Amino acid sequence: MRASNLLKKFEMDRGQTMTTLFTNRSDFQSWRDLIPKDRTIGFVPTMGALHAGHVSLIEHAKSECDVVVVSIYVNDLQFSAESDFTRYPRTEESDFHLCANEQVHAVFAPARSEVFPEEVINVLTPSNNALGFEGTDRQGHFAGVVTVVDRLFSIVRPSVAYFGLKDYQQVAVIRDMALQLHPDIVIESCETVRDADGLALSSRNRFLSVSGRNTATLMNIAFNKANAIWKSGTTRSKELINAVAAELSQDSAIHVQYISVVRNGTMEPVSVACQGDVIIAAIVVDGVRLIDNKPLINA
Ligand code: PAJ
Repeated sequence: MRASNLLKKFEMDRGQTMTTLFTNRSDFQSWRDLIPKDRTIGFVPTMGALHAGHVSLIEHAKSECDVVVVSIYVNDLQFSAESDFTRYPRTEESDFHLCANEQVHAVFAPARSEVFPEEVINVLTPSNNALGFEGTDRQGHFAGVVTVVDRLFSIVRPSVAYFGLKDYQQVAVIRDMALQLHPDIVIESCETVRDADGLALSSRNRFLSVSGRNTATLMNIAFNKANAIWKSGTTRSKELINAVAAELSQDSAIHVQYISVVRNGTMEPVSVACQGDVIIAAIVVDGVRLIDNKPLINA
């Protein structure tokens, strides 16, 4: 459905809620300019295909800010392969309804030309936290992420922006970018939302087969095992990583990309793990790349 038709449909369906859909940057900015300066604006950037993980960010924003803006924009700059970008799920209608039900004030769902009207895009260089892990396995990914988030920050001009810890490295890299280019915007990170079986919600989970879905739950089980041995006194990262690897090796459908323990809030690997340090991992199941992480906690 074309954006203009979607807009009409959305306007008809939205009933009594106050949600407005903007597909046009200048319309959005006119609306934004009318918000009084003493109001706080919470911003949740997304690529759509919204699920309960995204909703938790919206709920955080609603509980802390006067006005909530959600953006829905599938950013081609952050995909390494054209096929991944094309395959990315697009569920605009249900996303808009979800935002309306959540009483989000504005949904900004622009076309590429509204975000990047220029012919040649100046792609930003991400901080050193982008090196390694996702940055190695997905070359150019974080450059694409910081470029679009910087642009969205300039358009939306939020007080607080909300990101999920599910994408732990992304939070670290965006924090660094914001500190440099948008020091007035507070970056808030929110806990990972999981299914009942422990699998972190992700728009990619829909690509898993039934058995792949089952296999993928091993990642959370493995993290929990590592946390249990850490609680019982094993602090050497090597042993924690081995515990995760041993669990994951039980299913030959899992291809491990990396497992590491990093210092809380950074991507710096540690050899001895303290409370709050984070186990991070990426695996491939059914050709689907899944990332997850868990902090080591004593509670
Ligand atoms: P997307 O994958 O749509 O995710 C949008 C936000 O939802 C991110 O901050 C992500 O960490 C968070 N999120 C995803 N799954 C979650 C879960 N299970 N629990 C909690 N939060 C979760 O991340 C992106 O889009 C893009 O890279 C973006 C930042 C929008 C830039 O294009």
